[in-house]
Amino acid sequence: MILLDGKKTSADIKQEIAKSVEEIKKQGRRAPHLAAVLVGIDGASMTYVGAKVKACQLVGFESTLIKLPEDTSEKALLQQIEALNNNPDIDGFIVQLPLPKHIDEQKVIMSIDPNKDVDGFHPVNVGRLTLGLPTFISATPFGIMELLERYEIPTSGKHVVVIGRSHIVGRPMSILLSQKRKAGNATVTIAHSRTKDLKSLTQQADIVIAALGIPEFLTADMVKDNAVIIDVGITRVPDDSKKKGYRITGDVDFKAVSNKASHITPVPGGVGPMTIAMLLKNNLLAYNGIG
Ligand code: GUN
Repeated sequence: MILLDGKKTSADIKQEIAKSVEEIKKQGRRAPHLAAVLVGIDGASMTYVGAKVKACQLVGFESTLIKLPEDTSEKALLQQIEALNNNPDIDGFIVQLPLPKHIDEQKVIMSIDPNKDVDGFHPVNVGRLTLGLPTFISATPFGIMELLERYEIPTSGKHVVVIGRSHIVGRPMSILLSQKRKAGNATVTIAHSRTKDLKSLTQQADIVIAALGIPEFLTADMVKDNAVIIDVGITRVPDDSKKKGYRITGDVDFKAVSNKASHITPVPGGVGPMTIAMLLKNNLLAYNGIG
């Protein structure tokens, strides 16, 4: 069994980005600049945004964190986004989700300039991805594609079962894997909560991508020998033995499934760390112009 080490791979990618930034600075040009907008004080969101800002520093990017109070109006947030859209010193920015309930998330995403939408959530970028045009691929699917490529996992003609049809992970993943591209050309089944006899599908899969958000859902009896297993789950499960009071659990029963798999991502240390590296990569793309 080979561990698909997201921690190491993301460190490699960050190093590559840092090198590009060094080159940029050597030419006397300004560094790429990423901004993040955080509304409210959701614990997980604060952790994620903090990690994104720290990663910017590591690679030599400028970063700006805009913290807004929980009761920020939708109008005030849209004005903030407009300011970022029009600020020539900001190459890309993200609005951390979820947003407070009184704010329409879709409206917010639609207001972001697609050329600065380094999350790849804007319909223009989702459309570009679907058509196989240059775009910002959202961080999780982009990170998984990068892991498959760097570990040279064959995907052409393989059967991939993606469990989960979210706009951010399952759906784009299924599109990318079926495209004529690197780590593509796969035959993809997209499964979800209404799928009948999921086990019979996953048992046929050469690659399983578990992105449904149910801890340890994928068990050893559901996978065939030598399958490649990608675990996208990051559920916080209460655990008194941990200092934080919880542990991060994936969608895969790692202990049992790793005995059958040829390759598997651990949780934590698999897909998770890749997402930040890919956000940085998107911001470098935004800086260089995605054209
Ligand atoms: N919340 C959880 N993941 C993400 C992400 O990738 N981008 C944004 N903007 N919010 C998130």
